Amino acid sequence: MGRGAGFGKVILFGEHFVVHGIPGIVSAIDSTADAEVKKNVEGIIVNDERKGANGYAAKKRTQQKESIERMLRTMGIDPKKASLEIWLGGNLPGFSGIGASAASSVAIARAIAKEFEMDLSDGRINEAAYEAEKAYAGNPSGIDNTAATYGGLIWFKKNLSGGPNTIEKLNIREPVEIIIGNTGIVADTKEMVAGVAARKKNNPKKYNPLFKQAEGIAFPARKALEEFNLKKVGKLMNENHHLLRKIEVSCKELDYLVTLAREQGAFGAKLTGGGGGGCMVALTPRKELQEAVATAMEKEGFKVLRTKIGIKKT
Ligand code: MEV
Repeated sequence: MGRGAGFGKVILFGEHFVVHGIPGIVSAIDSTADAEVKKNVEGIIVNDERKGANGYAAKKRTQQKESIERMLRTMGIDPKKASLEIWLGGNLPGFSGIGASAASSVAIARAIAKEFEMDLSDGRINEAAYEAEKAYAGNPSGIDNTAATYGGLIWFKKNLSGGPNTIEKLNIREPVEIIIGNTGIVADTKEMVAGVAARKKNNPKKYNPLFKQAEGIAFPARKALEEFNLKKVGKLMNENHHLLRKIEVSCKELDYLVTLAREQGAFGAKLTGGGGGGCMVALTPRKELQEAVATAMEKEGFKVLRTKIGIKKT
């Protein structure tokens, strides 16, 4: 049997913009999707035992099947002839927006590589997971699978000419508490990504300046993280959320949680991932602030993940 794991992630800056070549900043979190793969069964069987949220696994099943087939082809295995039993678990909940699909793809790719005794570098695992991501996101940037493969805090820029993407590890002084608040709405990343691309194409006058502004946030955000200027990081997260609203990927539940987090003293808050539901992230340095923001959301019935960015072991 082969085993593998992939990190969950939180995008701090640049989701959606990153698909179009604007730099983004992502942090792995300390929760993983775990996979086990066994050969020698009939066809491909998937036992998805991840902790789902409102039917996450059920809604993603068709995309998951396509993603596994794409991954197998990239790894030189014919999906029509493959005989595999795949188990999925781990402590990364099935919330939309925290890289559950990419984490599971990395976990499965690593487990298949072990079971088939392939000696694959992280780069090859990342490629296989990127191919799998296309089933979930249509035209993904690659930021999610990169975080799921390598972990840590990453500066990412997609190479739009097809060459290697820019992937740089960022260092911060110490890990910082965040909360991830889940609207409970399972979102379709593919639809969200395609929607932005269509609106950008149809309305360049509105969209191009917004993309320029997103680029203008990414660079100071990197500097603020590296200088550990958390107030500045929070302020830029707020600005990033404003842009995400303008490109129409937020929704009233996300805006509600973002406002609630800010009212409770979060340094900054924004949606994270594809939007249209899914999750938001709030920067809540120190345990007390993290707890205050998390509790306020939980009191209203929302599910919350308490975690940190910049954790060394991820
Ligand atoms: C999804 O987590 C992030 C998006 O930017 C899509 C992508 O980059 O592939 C919305």
